[in-house]
Amino acid sequence: MTRPLDAKELAARFEGVFGAAPDGVWQAPGRVNLIGEHTDYNEGFVLPFAIDRTARVAVRVRPDSAIRMLSTFGNQGLTTADARSLDRATARGWTKYPLGVIWALQQRGLNIPGLDLLLDSDVPRGAGLSSSHAIECAVISALNELTAASLGAEDMVLATQRAENDFVGAPTGIMDQSASLRATAGHAVFLDCRDQSVRLVPFDADSAGLVLLVIDTRVSHSHADGGYAARRESCELGAEVLGVRALRDVGLEDLEEASGLLDAETFRRVRHVVTENDRVLQAVELLDTAGPGAIGPLLDASHASMRDDFEISCAELDLAVEAARTAGAIGARMTGGGFGGSAIALTPAGSAQRVRTAVERAFAEAGYAAPGIFSVRPAAGARRLA
Ligand code: GLA
Repeated sequence: MTRPLDAKELAARFEGVFGAAPDGVWQAPGRVNLIGEHTDYNEGFVLPFAIDRTARVAVRVRPDSAIRMLSTFGNQGLTTADARSLDRATARGWTKYPLGVIWALQQRGLNIPGLDLLLDSDVPRGAGLSSSHAIECAVISALNELTAASLGAEDMVLATQRAENDFVGAPTGIMDQSASLRATAGHAVFLDCRDQSVRLVPFDADSAGLVLLVIDTRVSHSHADGGYAARRESCELGAEVLGVRALRDVGLEDLEEASGLLDAETFRRVRHVVTENDRVLQAVELLDTAGPGAIGPLLDASHASMRDDFEISCAELDLAVEAARTAGAIGARMTGGGFGGSAIALTPAGSAQRVRTAVERAFAEAGYAAPGIFSVRPAAGARRLA
């Protein structure tokens, strides 16, 4: 991967393309989710953290309504649109994300001017690490300042969710943008997705002699495809049949009764969400009391639940998890929406190389493309760079 451009380089590149300096440069990170998958849209709990892979955007306000967009990735050249007539049907590729944010802000009654915008990102795309939310959060941070919209983090979260749901067409929840906008270095973001309350939970793998490896399977996924939406529908059906506002309101103790009320598949979907919420709460408690070394079994249980009950894993993710565990990881699971993307493996620092090699070898033997493997630490959330 080529080195990401820093704020100065991005501003210089911007000036070369657009003929004037940007008004500023903003940055927002991708995320991994430690635990709590497909719980966000069920008004449950999640525990993601921001990673030090970011999207950066240089922006300048224009005197007219033209929007001109360029990225350092993707092979499209300069793409133009008009802020007065944004059209989700014609938006293509990564431009859906900035355009979706502009559209969502307009839906809130804000007047968004024309813009020149240059984007750079080193968040791997399609890898389940929220590359799209990193772009959206960088853009909304920029527009929040440049248009003096003065939205708080919670409103920016809802606006980017609206962009994803109603412009991009992915019926996703609020976890990713909450991590990107609200994270701080060294902490995981314990988010209650019902009321958006956040507690920052220290996650210091280094001091515990551990590393958190991300294993990008290179199996690309899109949450605008059917699988994610189908899971969400099952959850909504489960909540309706059980007579609750959201699956957040179903406890472990309710599962036995639920099994008699739901069809077998819906029950398994519900069981994943209910047990996963419980695992998040347990993970937070263990991090508070015992540190990262204690959460391995919860990561494993989370993966099994997603593989068997929620059925959102795939052969490559299962192999990554299994190979990492066999080679010494103390816990591993797929992370993100599923159907591809990345796994995480919590690994003793001394075994990290062995785990990497074992996963690479297992992928080669299975005839899969070589995975991308790198370590991550909880990084800072979105901010202005220049
Ligand atoms: C994607 C979505 C999130 C969340 C996860 C699954 O990352 O964007 O809202 O639902 O999948 O936990």
